[in-house]
Amino acid sequence: INKNFIRNFAIIAHIDHGKSTLADALMRICGALEQRHEKEQFLDNMDIERERGITIKAQTVRLKFKAQDGNVYQLNLMDTPGHVDFSYEVSRSLAACEGSLLVVDASQGVEAQTLANVYKAIENNHTLIPVLNKMDLPSADPENIKIQIQHLIGIPAEDAIEVSAKKGIGIEAVLQAIVDRLPCPQGDETACLKALLVDSWYDAYLGVILLVRIIDGIITPKKKIRMMAANAVYTVEQIGVFTPYPNPVEHLACGEVGYIIANVKAVGDCHIGDTITEENRPAEEALPGFKSCTPVVFCSLFPVEAGDFDKLKESLAKLHLNDASFSYEMDSSNALGFGFRLGLLGLLHLEVVQERLEREFDLDLIITAPSVIYKIQLQNGTWIDLHNPSDMPSPNEIKSMMEPWIKATLFVPDAYVGSILTLLVERRGIRESLEYVTPTRALMVYRMPLNEVAFDFYDTLKSLSRGHASFDYEMNGYEEGELVLLSIALNGDPIHALSFVVPKVRAYDKGRAICEKLKEILPRQLFPIAIQATVGGKILARETVSALRKNVTAKCYGGDITRKRKLLEKQKEGKKRMRQFGNIEIPQKAFIEVLKIG
Ligand code: GTP
Repeated sequence: INKNFIRNFAIIAHIDHGKSTLADALMRICGALEQRHEKEQFLDNMDIERERGITIKAQTVRLKFKAQDGNVYQLNLMDTPGHVDFSYEVSRSLAACEGSLLVVDASQGVEAQTLANVYKAIENNHTLIPVLNKMDLPSADPENIKIQIQHLIGIPAEDAIEVSAKKGIGIEAVLQAIVDRLPCPQGDETACLKALLVDSWYDAYLGVILLVRIIDGIITPKKKIRMMAANAVYTVEQIGVFTPYPNPVEHLACGEVGYIIANVKAVGDCHIGDTITEENRPAEEALPGFKSCTPVVFCSLFPVEAGDFDKLKESLAKLHLNDASFSYEMDSSNALGFGFRLGLLGLLHLEVVQERLEREFDLDLIITAPSVIYKIQLQNGTWIDLHNPSDMPSPNEIKSMMEPWIKATLFVPDAYVGSILTLLVERRGIRESLEYVTPTRALMVYRMPLNEVAFDFYDTLKSLSRGHASFDYEMNGYEEGELVLLSIALNGDPIHALSFVVPKVRAYDKGRAICEKLKEILPRQLFPIAIQATVGGKILARETVSALRKNVTAKCYGGDITRKRKLLEKQKEGKKRMRQFGNIEIPQKAFIEVLKIG
């Protein structure tokens, strides 16, 4: 196909503004979805995604569209996740396209992730087509939203396309605008092969699948290819495109997007952003590639049943075939036994990994407090990276400590500005700017330490603003901080899974809150339990859980036997989620509740 008839595009939007619904509508109108195959939303193909409505794995679909000029165009849609934790996936999808549909909910307006994604699109020299979605809602306010787009994003918006993805209104106009307004791909079909490796994942039937955008040249089956950064050579077995079902093709030429299957063993062998060239006629220079994604949040995972360790190990290895963006290594703890230390791209990523392990692999897990990476200068002048709070050197060995900071962008409706400002101050936020973008909505830009958002920031923000504030962040360097290690001990034994690095000024309040919470949650035992919060051996707070006197089932004696059995079964269920610490049992819930204390 002549590359003048190709358009490669992505859809960028804030969460819930209708990206997946629009993608579905585009596919439906191009005949890509047949009724009998149609799932609720094709592009979100993992269970968790569908439940939460969050797109995690970037996907791509080739569509055919007959435009007003009578020609049939090949439109390649690259799906992108909307959430900040997956922003590296956004970047790589955008690098494979010439333009983006900028979807804005016409009843909500521009939000934090709209801006974050727009900046990435602009970095990739994209042409943007503004699309106002949800025009069927009575609260849609297209004229004001156009002004917002012009003011906040700085692109003309008079010719924004007004659609309802859900009702299928205005979809044809979107396709026509893609043809009319987006540039066709550049590149030289006769040049040496240069293909950008956009993504790779493990498929149980097909093995490792490489998603590529051909920049120059052409690729055909049976050719020997070389991954330039990985310095590995493979033979192409099959190439194809997603329509959205995998469909083998004879060749992929410059400008096109498709997949390659080449007997690659593990996703870990593929460097996203790498250049694929032909072994016998190699390109001289590789493409610029992407910045690699480095984990910013760490936590440990332990099986509730110690006997499940091997199963956890196997499950992590399998999951890693699909998601090479988390790292893991063995870890052990005095109280929790053997487990793994995970490195993740953010908190949502942590939740997704944990949930997939529990759901897809049927594991019960205890997860420790998430921690960021601190840089510590020892008295002898050397610097170390601290990934795990329980490895923190004692205070007299430490000369200084640095912690990672972020730049946070928030959109907040007027009514909640006061309480959000209080929250930001509590979380050590420093104002960069605060501006009213409409009479009723403020845009706040704040710098703050990453560890202040690592626990419960999203939840608190959501509840303070009844779900109306939006938030995004980017990493913004390291700064010196006065930090201490807060440890929790039960009857004198420190519980490493409950150690936190906290700002010195907050240690007392946090220690007290955790002790109170634990007192509430810990089941009473046959002996009293002393709960202590300590910093550098000094006790900051203390609570006691008094001893249990009666047998739990005692109150059922003489009573209804089924009720008694139910109670015992309930306890058994509870057991599964408990861990023994010396002679103290801690329910998993206790960990989660304690971690929520910000
Ligand atoms: P993420 O995958 O989380 O990034 O969200 P998304 O942007 O893909 O949003 P999605 O398509 O899942 O839509 C979010 C919600 O908005 C869903 O409940 C949709 O049914 C609804 N929605 C999408 N388009 C329209 C529309 O045109 N009109 C109305 N009324 N609702 C819509």
